[in-house]
Amino acid sequence: MDTVDQHNALRQAAQKRIKASHALGGDPDCLAQYYREWADSYELDVDRECYCGPSIVAELAGAVQAAYIGRERAATAILDAGCGTGLVGIELEHLGFRLIDGFDLSEAMAEMARQTGVYRTVEDDVDLNRPISDYSSASYDMTVCCGIFTLGHVHPRALRELARVTRPNGFVIASTCKSYAGSMSFEDEVMCLQEAGVLTPEQCLNDGRFLGEEDADYWTLRVLEKPAKQRL
Ligand SMILES: C[S@@+](CC[C@H](N)C(=O)[O-])C[C@H]1O[C@@H](n2cnc3c(N)ncnc32)[C@H](O)[C@@H]1O
Repeated sequence: MDTVDQHNALRQAAQKRIKASHALGGDPDCLAQYYREWADSYELDVDRECYCGPSIVAELAGAVQAAYIGRERAATAILDAGCGTGLVGIELEHLGFRLIDGFDLSEAMAEMARQTGVYRTVEDDVDLNRPISDYSSASYDMTVCCGIFTLGHVHPRALRELARVTRPNGFVIASTCKSYAGSMSFEDEVMCLQEAGVLTPEQCLNDGRFLGEEDADYWTLRVLEKPAKQRL
């Protein structure tokens, strides 16, 4: 096999693994097992597909911090939800963020994130399709997530929990893959939470580059002050 054939074969295998990860139906055991087996080659696979989601999410976090967060970047607390191997954390650290926590469903992925050394803490076995009760309300200035609002992964309902752990006037920054956005009503969930006074969309970059041929929307959502009666 010559080098070009070899390259194409590796790319096809990477695309197959990425596609297979979208067919896990949100089942936590299947997801954990799939990512346990994929953890070692995950970064090589997504790199072959020019994965630019993490750098875009981190750049958005940098812009939002500069525009709206009333404290220095190094003192801005960020939660990276579904941190995987830590690609977003590494980008955030390059931009000067220092208080970065992460969590993931997969122990193997979370362990790789720990090894990057850019996170303050990384928790594993945290399922975002359930209440993340170990995380207190209003703990973070920003919550970021990249590649988890993807087919077969996390349901849009998780947005409510992400908003809960983010302080009022803090931000949730999230990518949604195009294939996911079409079938999972992420926008409906945003509208529903807006009507409930939980958050409001500040900005959305539509159809941005994400991974290989798949584009994504990049949402910046502002968490609202709770009405007085809900604070009681
Ligand atoms: C495509 S990877 C993205 C990882 C990382 N954010 C990145 O951009 O490289 C999706 C990650 O979501 C995690 N995940 C999937 N379902 C989850 C859930 N219900 N709760 C928390 N994490 C989940 C997987 O374990 C995996 O690490």
